[in-house]
Amino acid sequence: MNITQIQQCVDDIRNHYKGEPKVGIILGTGLGALAAQVDVDFSMPYEDISSFPVSTVESHKGRLIFGSLAGVPVVVMQGRFHQYEGYTLQQITLPVRVFKMLGVETLIVSNACGGMNPLYRRGDIMLIDDHINLLGDNPLVGPNIDELGPRFPDMSEPYSRHLLSLAEGAALELGIKVHRGVYVAVTGPNLETRAEYRFLRSIGADVVGMSTVPECIVARHMGMAVLGISIITDECFPDSLQPVSLEHVLEAAAIAEPKMTNLVNHIVSKIV
Ligand code: HPA
Repeated sequence: MNITQIQQCVDDIRNHYKGEPKVGIILGTGLGALAAQVDVDFSMPYEDISSFPVSTVESHKGRLIFGSLAGVPVVVMQGRFHQYEGYTLQQITLPVRVFKMLGVETLIVSNACGGMNPLYRRGDIMLIDDHINLLGDNPLVGPNIDELGPRFPDMSEPYSRHLLSLAEGAALELGIKVHRGVYVAVTGPNLETRAEYRFLRSIGADVVGMSTVPECIVARHMGMAVLGISIITDECFPDSLQPVSLEHVLEAAAIAEPKMTNLVNHIVSKIV
């Protein structure tokens, strides 16, 4: 991905929409209901944006929604891309590059994940405090786009402390319980073995999932503030592990969805 391709996407969007989104939101598995809360100005299917990947997972729709949420101008990515679909991490993170060039300063990323911390339960929400990249790849590999950020970006605060405290405040006001922990990203698409869950827990992760980390890295490369929110869709305790289906994951995401929607709405209203 180079600056010309990114600029081309921005031009494709600018040909149709002149608004100035301040917050970018990437909706993860089963969290699509937030899109219904957006006062929509304009929406654009991914296939109408040149070089934009097209989502292959059925539970994800592929379009950008522009409008306002809680009175704040936003762009929402409905349908995201994963490494297990065969995309490169550069393709996966192209929308984040585009967000930045549209003027977005804050990125909110949501996902479904497996909970390994024994205090976490299915349906709980975790604010991502930090992450571990086990994707075996990095979206910043290749020539650095100097116009957008440094060769060796700092990662001492991948998830904004300010946004974390804002999110915790919002959760408290709404009476929603949230955890705060470490997300480890793996490629998938298979779920982990018991030995892998033991390993991932022992290296310091509270939850495991197949997304979010590439988007966070690229956002930080460009100096955007990131908030990551995870729904725990299955309990990954190696000594009592149960088989998990996609239906089980989607069901838990659906149960947590109203909490999540409420929370993100509230957070966004406090950002700008
Ligand atoms: N592992 C990895 N990714 C996931 C899981 C899991 O257990 N649950 C939902 N996404």
